[in-house]
Amino acid sequence: MNTKSLLTINDLTNEEIFDILKDAQAFSSSHKDWQFDRRLLVANLFFEPSTRTHYSFASAQHQLGVCVENFTAEGSSVEKGESLYDTVKTFESIGFDAVVIRHKQDAYFEQLKDIKIPILNAGDGCGNHPTQCLLDLLTIYQEFQTFEGVKVALIGDIKHSRVANSLQQAMKRLGGEVCFSGPKEWCEKTDYKEIDEAIRWADAVVMLRIQHERHENTMKMSKEEYLQAYGLTKERAASMKPHAIIMHPAPVNRGVEIDDCLVEASNSRIFKQMANGVLVRKAVLKRALGYAPFHKEV
Ligand code: CP
Repeated sequence: MNTKSLLTINDLTNEEIFDILKDAQAFSSSHKDWQFDRRLLVANLFFEPSTRTHYSFASAQHQLGVCVENFTAEGSSVEKGESLYDTVKTFESIGFDAVVIRHKQDAYFEQLKDIKIPILNAGDGCGNHPTQCLLDLLTIYQEFQTFEGVKVALIGDIKHSRVANSLQQAMKRLGGEVCFSGPKEWCEKTDYKEIDEAIRWADAVVMLRIQHERHENTMKMSKEEYLQAYGLTKERAASMKPHAIIMHPAPVNRGVEIDDCLVEASNSRIFKQMANGVLVRKAVLKRALGYAPFHKEV
């Protein structure tokens, strides 16, 4: 495996996380127009639906001057039975410098250990979503200028959430605190709080959608019942700390896990997270393609 691959957030040391966040910040200020100084070819392989991750990688790639190919299984030789390994090996063989992959299989990258070009994980099943984690960290850092002691409540379908897994691991390593809330049958974690307590406790309230596509049984509650029992309602939002922010990786199901009117409230950072996604993915691509962090350039 290429050492510049990014498969899980734990592939990065704390120092590397801060390097990426600093580069992401530089892309919004001192290095807005920075581009690669050589021709690079990157393929985006999305085997699962995506809007934000796919197109913010594409936006980052275009802004950096990368030649981009967007691959979908439909119309490719995957339809003739070609394996994931042979598909990625093909991209390596025909001259691509890196690949971005989203796949429904947990830890799909285990079967790609012999691939030599960098792989950027854009989400594996219920496992990991490292670039989402980095954009969440950037959003939290912009708000609080530290991770030390910052309290994050992850609320919703924890069991099926790669976002919750990745952010919990990173926040704990960086000195933050994490709790979980939502339906107990979807939460096998120990740091559990009832929803009202979790919302009053948190500096960042991260709402998560119900991942229906990963459920074996359909949900028995109506959308309205779910919002009242486990969602961020106007009443719950009013009990948040004055400085606390609302986050959500999106896509958002307005009126289910969060009241429609809160999605664009003044303390919501949901669309800021999406903008940060482009900055973070520019930084991750730069690292993957062998460039040092701006502040460490000689
Ligand atoms: N947050 C996120 O991963 O969104 P997409 O599924 O649209 O990429």
